[in-house]
Amino acid sequence: MLTAERTRDLPQYVFAELDQEIRTMRQKGQMVINLGISDPNQAPRQEVLNALTESVKSTDSHRYPPLRGMLDLRRHVAEWYRQRFGVRLDPEREVLITVGSKEALVHLSLAVVDQDGIILVPDPGYPAYSMPHALFGMDQRRMNLVREHGFLPVISEVRAGDLERAQLMYVNYPNNPTGAIADRAFWRGLVEQARRWDFVICSDLAYSDIVYEGRVSSVLEIPEARSVAVESITFSKSYNMQGWRLSAMVGSAEIIDALYRVESQINGGVYTPIQEAGVVALEFGPDPAVLESYRERRQILGQGLAEMGLSFEWPKASVYFWVGLPEALGTAEDYARRLLHEARVAVTPGTAFGPHGGQRIRVSFTNPLDQIVTALEQWQRVPSVKV
Ligand SMILES: Cc1ncc(COP(=O)(O)O)c(C=O)c1O
Repeated sequence: MLTAERTRDLPQYVFAELDQEIRTMRQKGQMVINLGISDPNQAPRQEVLNALTESVKSTDSHRYPPLRGMLDLRRHVAEWYRQRFGVRLDPEREVLITVGSKEALVHLSLAVVDQDGIILVPDPGYPAYSMPHALFGMDQRRMNLVREHGFLPVISEVRAGDLERAQLMYVNYPNNPTGAIADRAFWRGLVEQARRWDFVICSDLAYSDIVYEGRVSSVLEIPEARSVAVESITFSKSYNMQGWRLSAMVGSAEIIDALYRVESQINGGVYTPIQEAGVVALEFGPDPAVLESYRERRQILGQGLAEMGLSFEWPKASVYFWVGLPEALGTAEDYARRLLHEARVAVTPGTAFGPHGGQRIRVSFTNPLDQIVTALEQWQRVPSVKV
């Protein structure tokens, strides 16, 4: 064998597995509506596209970009934090431009976790949080997120011995897959625990702008967070720029500097035209029409799921329904497979987000409304997938 053991143990990226099955069905001429992905279908604003194409024409744009990111973009990120959360950031020391939040979140572990450290990961949670364990052999503990606690982690459930060794905790609100949000009181309590047990909080704010109910807050609103926390924002969801790979990590200058030292050894920064277009995206803000389209899709999809008797909480934010399955319908994986083959609708089994998701599926609404309506019709017509 020429490949490392860890690659053999690595779970096939769950969305890749689903994609393969869908592709095979489509090759056979079967129409599949994929509500399993989180890949927004709409385009960035025209002004953002114009900024990109203009910049591409400049000879200077093709050089290596500054590895911390363009200062202008870092200033705009800092300004966004000031306006959005009333948080003041030093763009020179507290903002780092990253090549998509997925890899920055994984690389952060290399910056803050030692070989004998522990990473606390939410379960269910975005799969990248488990990659430091799978790829780098770092130890991790899962924190179960349950409905009774608003899908927030409960620190008192983590063993003291594990907290002593904990060096990093990933948290994600608005949450994928549950749609939950966290308020300032939660952040205050968590920052207190992080200071007490000496671990880094990494807040993943990927869905900061896609909110239906309540107020999204930043961990950095807590003044003491500045010493223990970083937060990741991305242009993927708010601006439909997911293919562009543009994001930022902000917060503790010490942690940001450590991440910069790791990142600058691994990647070459983000292509200048993309960063320049990012400045324009932040100047305009998210497109209200896009946000409205999510609201409408959420309404229609939620009604359809409710009519089928499925149980779920309406997502307060994000683009997902986290749907509970009665035991009679089998495991999430069996159910998702039946739904795919019999109703031609793809959803993600909850186990993709950790063992705790065994009796749930995630249904996303990043597809156009007409596809969502058709998916619901197909879903409702198949007796074996009805509640
Ligand atoms: C919670 C969460 N964080 C991060 C990401 C990845 O974002 P990016 O495109 O910036 O890598 C996703 C993508 O679905 C996500 O759901």
